[in-house]
Amino acid sequence: MQIHTTIPSLRAARAQAGRVALVPTMGNLHDGHITLMREAARHADTVVASIFVNRLQFGPSEDFAKYPRTLEADSARLEAAGVTHLFAPTEAAMYPQPQRYHVDPAPEHVSILEGALRPGHFRGVATVVLKLFNIVAPDVALFGKKDYQQFIVLQNMAQDLALPIELIAHDTVRAADGLAFSSRNGYLSATERLEAPRLYQQLSAIANAIRKGARHYAELEAAAIAELTRHGWQPDYLTVRRRADLQIAEKTDEALVVLAAARLGNTRLIDNLEI
Ligand code: PAJ
Repeated sequence: MQIHTTIPSLRAARAQAGRVALVPTMGNLHDGHITLMREAARHADTVVASIFVNRLQFGPSEDFAKYPRTLEADSARLEAAGVTHLFAPTEAAMYPQPQRYHVDPAPEHVSILEGALRPGHFRGVATVVLKLFNIVAPDVALFGKKDYQQFIVLQNMAQDLALPIELIAHDTVRAADGLAFSSRNGYLSATERLEAPRLYQQLSAIANAIRKGARHYAELEAAAIAELTRHGWQPDYLTVRRRADLQIAEKTDEALVVLAAARLGNTRLIDNLEI
């Protein structure tokens, strides 16, 4: 596997490649990331993985400094998965000077859910992803549904700015007990790890009830929030939304998704389930 730490090095390799699929990550790779890499290989001749912990998308009180950086183990996992190109730029290569131009996502996409709780987060995500797109010039890029709102923001950015790139969303990859793989799972204590699948269980219960015809969303949400709280969680939101734009679901809406964010101890977990 070739590892590129500068933009010119990556661009020289890209010039030799045919159809390219990009999978952007912040590293500390788990089975969810690796599944995206394998899926990417089905869409292109060459898979480029990127690893960059993007300062712009972390709030001042968030975990940028302590975000796990495990480049050696990540490289081994990528190589084992058949990835041939890794773009792992240094901070100086990505941001040789403080980033002054930014992508501002549509206000209706960032004023809700994660956007409301993490001001500036999606602006930082959109800006770095557009920059990665400009560096790698992929034909296709893969993202996980685990970060559902992130995908909606990026897909709308690609459409609104007429980017010549196909964006693909892959299903969330989970551990056997249902917990969605996440780099933040590593922060959980052994006891918290045993408790953590409850988030997915509550989302599943709501999805099943709605599939059977329930339409009293507010009551379902309140019951799930109460159940999590009873088990020591601090939920930020747990809400049934329309898939297309994540606005509040009406009884007549059909394509729905239930999304949640909740803190367990010091770890904030997010998850969602399409209904
Ligand atoms: P990161 O959290 O490292 O995630 C990289 C990609 O893996 C994202 O598209 C994310 O949705 C996907 N992913 C994470 N956990 C997953 C799981 N359990 N199943 C399936 N896919 C999963 O998301 C980011 O990085 C950053 O915001 C980034 C897009 C790289 C911009 O900095």
